[in-house]
Amino acid sequence: MKSQLGPLPARVTICEVGPRDGLQNESQLVSADDKVHYIDLLSESGLSLIETTSFVSPKAVPQIGDAAEVMARIRRRPGVRYLVLVPNVRGLERAQQAGADAVAVFTAATESFAKRNINMTIAQSLETFGEVVASAKRAGMWVRGYISTAFGCPYEGTTPVASVIRVARALVAMGCDEISVGDTIGVATPLQVADVVARLRDEVPLERLALHLHDTRGTALANIVAGLQQGVAIFDSSSGGLGGCPFAPGATGNVATEDVLYLLDGMGIETRVDLAKVRAASRFIAGVLRRDQLPSRAFNALEAAAAR
Ligand code: HMG
Ligand code: MG
Repeated sequence: MKSQLGPLPARVTICEVGPRDGLQNESQLVSADDKVHYIDLLSESGLSLIETTSFVSPKAVPQIGDAAEVMARIRRRPGVRYLVLVPNVRGLERAQQAGADAVAVFTAATESFAKRNINMTIAQSLETFGEVVASAKRAGMWVRGYISTAFGCPYEGTTPVASVIRVARALVAMGCDEISVGDTIGVATPLQVADVVARLRDEVPLERLALHLHDTRGTALANIVAGLQQGVAIFDSSSGGLGGCPFAPGATGNVATEDVLYLLDGMGIETRVDLAKVRAASRFIAGVLRRDQLPSRAFNALEAAAAR
């Protein structure tokens, strides 16, 4: 659509990552009952893509030890894709047994982060995921590929764009349906986002390119606008702004779904997601986590206005 900011996508897809990225960093273990209710509430909001849990080693991420139970008990709403993270063939098999039909593999653009997160070099991860993706595609599954530390790394500083391109090219070649490019520690700024996306567009068709922005330094919404201006129309966010990666020191939550919806609604960009219903899901999980406030500015402002 035409705008004073230049042409922008008329419609955006939100990938809700609260139940996975949002909860994985919480030290308080959330019960399967509460996770199921949280996911069911999110499913009612119009979201079409919800990252539900991960089939990783529970030793690495204790919060997700109940992944199979959660997958078995959620109410699967037609039209909603329930995505799960898998780090290896074992994870894929567990996901299949749990009835998942969409999986995400996850590597990084920097060696130090790949090592700490999945204990593999980038090359080893691409070999492992080549096998995982081939097997998932044979089984008719939809596959997403994540590139973490695409803008900056807690161990290596600013990430060279060439490293992101190399990994993106490999993930596309192995058959990933969508590539999500992650600002794992929330260091990116708008011109960097525009630059990386402008170069990635030659490798990944825009309709298959997502941005996964953590909001550690408050730049995520500005980065989304930069992404929109480059034609990106898929953004990852977490309800309430929960989140973080246990293997990225200091990383805080994803950009909040409520904040993204407020921004997009205000800009006239369609999402088909009901902000009030996402807020209800966030309110529920805030109660479970015994929080009065969440990182989401829009959530807190709307709750305060409703309490008046
Ligand atoms: P490892 O120690 O190198 O591998 O871990 P291993 O094969 O020796 O396995 C270690 C133990 O885990 C063994 O158990 C395995 O059986 C078990 P033990 O013999 O010690 O009892 N194991 C598993 N258990 C369940 N499901 C599995 C599985 N695989 C092995 N699939 C491994 C390597 C990849 C498994 C481990 O490092 C791991 O699970 N890492 C996951 C880390 C993670 O979940 N990180 C957060 C998600 S990524 C993220 O947040 C970034 C993202 O949001 C984008 C962004 O923001 O940038 C996506
Ligand atoms: Mg993340």
